[in-house]
Amino acid sequence: MHFSHREIFLKHIAQTSPSPLNIEVEKAEGVYIYDKKGRVYLDFISGIAVSSVGHQHPEIKKAIIEQLNKYAHIMVYGETIQEPQTAYAQLITQHLPSTLNCIYFVNSGAEAIEGSMKLAKGFTQRPEIISFENAYHGSTQGALSIMGNEFFKTKYRPLLPATKIIKWNDYNALNTITKDTAAVFVEPIRAEAGVLIPSKEYMQALRQKCTETGTLLVMDEIQTGFGRTGKLFAFEHFDIVPDILVLGKAMGGGLPIGAFIASSEMMQVFTNQPLGHLTTFGGNAICVASALATLKVILNENLSNKAKFIEDYLQRHLKHPAIKELRIIGAMGAVQLNSSEQVMKAIDWCLKNGLLIDWFLFAPDCIRLAPPLIIKENELKEGIVILIESLNYV
Ligand SMILES: Cc1ncc(COP(=O)(O)O)c(C=O)c1O
Repeated sequence: MHFSHREIFLKHIAQTSPSPLNIEVEKAEGVYIYDKKGRVYLDFISGIAVSSVGHQHPEIKKAIIEQLNKYAHIMVYGETIQEPQTAYAQLITQHLPSTLNCIYFVNSGAEAIEGSMKLAKGFTQRPEIISFENAYHGSTQGALSIMGNEFFKTKYRPLLPATKIIKWNDYNALNTITKDTAAVFVEPIRAEAGVLIPSKEYMQALRQKCTETGTLLVMDEIQTGFGRTGKLFAFEHFDIVPDILVLGKAMGGGLPIGAFIASSEMMQVFTNQPLGHLTTFGGNAICVASALATLKVILNENLSNKAKFIEDYLQRHLKHPAIKELRIIGAMGAVQLNSSEQVMKAIDWCLKNGLLIDWFLFAPDCIRLAPPLIIKENELKEGIVILIESLNYV
């Protein structure tokens, strides 16, 4: 009996929802994805803020192949001196405030969140972690414990104790942060909540409250990092510095990697009592070589500025009566319609017409926009034409 790849995918590969995108991928290049039937999709979501440098960037391919020809895995993370890691640490810390000078490499966003949670508890010797309503920090049990939405948690309780979810943009709620609080985890621009952009005053009040109580401020920049919002890191919009910076997604240029960055003093938590946090594949040489090439491309091609151009272009051209609100910062946007049904119709229509867009976990009435930062003006225009047309059918 012969089964198609689609049948095998649906039957033998664990699914995350009853309605996957179902595109049978042949290849991807630049801002386009090609399926087995030769259909072309313009990528307006970058695999959820991953492919910021586009698909198959030549510099990244070159770096991966060069590293592949040297070595891949030697020992578990932290034992051997590997040039991709040292070069990466040197380059990224040159672009960060001096207190963020020590990087711990892991394999994914959620794992970087897990490591940060341990680091915060270990360093402060406090039990409590605070996060915000409709925050998404990942799907593992620690990260799930600080997810700000009960719907996805109920079935998997008990989760971590001593976690509190507080109201967003509410100055009074900041009083929940006390000397018992190890850390506050926050996305500087709240992605899955539907691109919520806070005021500078609010973020500075949050920073202030953390400083007053000796609580660590942990910025989850897994989705906002690496130029996506028009700055290399989104915390730069608010003139504040986090105590721990959490990275993932676009970091690897398409390969799986995450990291958390803090002061070298803080990181000693994991060595004071040795083997405090471990990972076999964290900092894998090929993934870090890819991440290094990605960071160089982002810096050399000034992709943060490109993100600002994308923001400006979308603000000027994405207009339709069905749009209730457009929230956008850099190349990270939420197009709010009247209902989730309208959003689903638009996504469907766009997919059929060669444009890949998506929705948000906690903002079902919004369309997600996160095109690769390397997108050209004519490609942006092509996508906007399809998107606007889709809104005629919702
Ligand atoms: C803000 C944020 N934090 C954490 C994560 C988890 O990252 P990963 O899926 O790599 O575990 C995500 C993933 O979507 C995210 O958007």
